[in-house]
Amino acid sequence: MTVKLLRGRLFSFKRAPQSLTDTDSYLYETDGALLLDGGKIAASGRYADVKASAPEGTEEIDHRPHLIMPGFIDTHLHFPQMQVIASYAANLLEWLNTYTFPEECRFVESAHAQKIATHFYDELIRHGTTTAVAYCSVHKTSADAYFAEAMRRNMCMVGGKVMMDRNAPQGLLDTPEMGYDETRAVIAEWHGKGRNHVAITPRFAITSTPAQMEAAATLAREFPDLHIQTHLSENHDEIRYTCELYPEAVDYTDIYARYGLLGKKTLFGHCIHLSDREADAMSEAGSVAVHCPTSNLFLGSGLFPLKALSRREKPVRIGVATDIGGGSSYSMLRTMDEAYKIQQLLGERLNPLDSYYHMTLGNAEALSLADSIGTLETGTDADIVVLNAAATPAMALKMDVVKTLAEELFLLQTMGDDRSIVETYVAGNAMKAAL
Ligand code: GUN
Ligand code: ZN
Repeated sequence: MTVKLLRGRLFSFKRAPQSLTDTDSYLYETDGALLLDGGKIAASGRYADVKASAPEGTEEIDHRPHLIMPGFIDTHLHFPQMQVIASYAANLLEWLNTYTFPEECRFVESAHAQKIATHFYDELIRHGTTTAVAYCSVHKTSADAYFAEAMRRNMCMVGGKVMMDRNAPQGLLDTPEMGYDETRAVIAEWHGKGRNHVAITPRFAITSTPAQMEAAATLAREFPDLHIQTHLSENHDEIRYTCELYPEAVDYTDIYARYGLLGKKTLFGHCIHLSDREADAMSEAGSVAVHCPTSNLFLGSGLFPLKALSRREKPVRIGVATDIGGGSSYSMLRTMDEAYKIQQLLGERLNPLDSYYHMTLGNAEALSLADSIGTLETGTDADIVVLNAAATPAMALKMDVVKTLAEELFLLQTMGDDRSIVETYVAGNAMKAAL
């Protein structure tokens, strides 16, 4: 693999920004460069310095005037729902029963799972996403296809075979024993292979019997380092039904807590309607609430109080995600545009530094993977996105009057999509051009 030098404007967070004027929270190098070697960032800084350190024969790629950032991270989406996107439904439960469950049944066929996996990774790369956390279907074949394709592309991916043993069509049900055994088999075959991370994935409390929740609890005890992903507090009808199914629990969050599923590696999709008690429990456990704005608006689920949860005395850790196919875009730029509008409707401000922090370092921290992804620091994985804020005529016209980095970021978030992604590097390889 040849050593590469990328030249352009570098932008990367060192920590969460406190305000829009918190210039210490990030690195911004107007004539910067990255040296990529062996899938890692070997040097990062001013072009003149990085150039001087580059070995002979280094391939130089000039991305000026574009922005070079860490690749985007998507912390919640559903790999078998690529053909569920844009399904017309009144609410979450109707959408699941009418479109989503029947579609996921098709993933019992490994040829279908492999075909969709190819499209899935193509779409992530097209949109500048270099790491994602996905639900596969209940079928082990879907997890096999998902992780095999991740390895082929050398991408850092988290995912899991869904565990679900009730309240869905027969073709989409396992049993407590099968859910346990197949999850163990997926862990044995895929966890730690290439850049793969297997997550324990009970879909949500509605589709798991108490016996299956016990099986998930056993897996969580046996594999304490693994991520856990599930859904929590997305829709009022869902919350009511869930609490009826688990009458002994004090609330929805308490159901997961009772099965030992509330921990630092747990990613809870949605968390829109949490009570103060639930938010305290999440905070104390260090669990992550994953905000999925395009999905929450599309399904009419509600307005996630991102700012309010972050500034509590006991703050809740936050991730951001597309939630394909409840979500309506693969783009993390589109996602944060909708996140911004939700905060507007709540009378809150989500500034552009907040948004870009969440898409990169914030999500890496939410996954406890910030040592290897989410920044442009030397020694981390060379997962990189190159962004053009003048990608369309309308964006170029607006760029004529943009004066600051924050204005440029906000334009990219407000008007940008896959057309703004000039290139996506995965472990040092340019992947978008090759699509
Ligand atoms: N809750 C349980 N399953 C799902 C799903 O597939 N999508 C969404 N948005 N919520 C869920
Ligand atoms: Zn989901």
